[in-house]
Amino acid sequence: MADAQTTSTDAPPDSHIDHAASLRYWNSVAANSKTMLGMLGSYPWYTRIDLRGSKIFLSKVRRMIPNCPTEGKLRLGVDCGAGVGRVTEGLLSQVCETVDAVEPVEKFLEVIRQSELKRTGVVGDIYPVGLEGWVPEKQYDLIWTQFCVGHLTDVQLREYFVRCREALSDTGVLVVKENQSTDPFGLDMFDEEDSSVTRTDEKLRLLFKEAGLGVVASELQLGFPKNFRLLPVRFYALRPLT
Ligand SMILES: C[S@@+](CC[C@H](N)C(=O)[O-])C[C@H]1O[C@@H](n2cnc3c(N)ncnc32)[C@H](O)[C@@H]1O
Repeated sequence: MADAQTTSTDAPPDSHIDHAASLRYWNSVAANSKTMLGMLGSYPWYTRIDLRGSKIFLSKVRRMIPNCPTEGKLRLGVDCGAGVGRVTEGLLSQVCETVDAVEPVEKFLEVIRQSELKRTGVVGDIYPVGLEGWVPEKQYDLIWTQFCVGHLTDVQLREYFVRCREALSDTGVLVVKENQSTDPFGLDMFDEEDSSVTRTDEKLRLLFKEAGLGVVASELQLGFPKNFRLLPVRFYALRPLT
């Protein structure tokens, strides 16, 4: 949920991404599972609005996918760029029987490993790796990717989307929920603080298409107070193009 800044240079914004710098940044952030402050900047109320919006969006999407069960839990989900498991705890564990997690920062993973959800077996396999290095070994009903694709270059992100497409079950869906660029010239914005890019809606849709994914549904997350001037947040529900 960073307030991204544009770096004025001719090089493409994603060429500035430095994975080591991102990991240094996230390792400097407190791994606090109670308040999630480290994950979402300085606004603890943000997560309530965010998770409520995600629940509503996901129920809508399940009704739009032919043969997707609209009631009851999905079999297997995965929280990609999971952080301390905020989305797993507040959403995915309520809609999936088992939730795997992918996250490169060890101290965040440790919070997930020590959680009640891990002890009770709701959290399944944990992959200590960035999305650029994650090769799914299972078929997932739900792949949730939120507030982390900015750490991948365009090429890495396209390849990640291809791997996700191949890892979806027959009725599986990939959900991407991300901040959206507000650059006045319609460019992606590089943020030096965590070495990430915030992409435009157009760029993400191009990458989805190139990866063979179709947009089943897309909407803005509503309900954030306007006076905080946060970046707009958009959901995308994606399925393989036929
Ligand atoms: C803003 S937090 C979001 C965490 C979680 N998705 C949420 O919404 O609460 C960004 C997360 O991306 C992770 N991250 C950094 N580099 C990454 C990469 N290359 N692949 C996947 N996740 C990465 C960070 O460690 C951090 O946990």
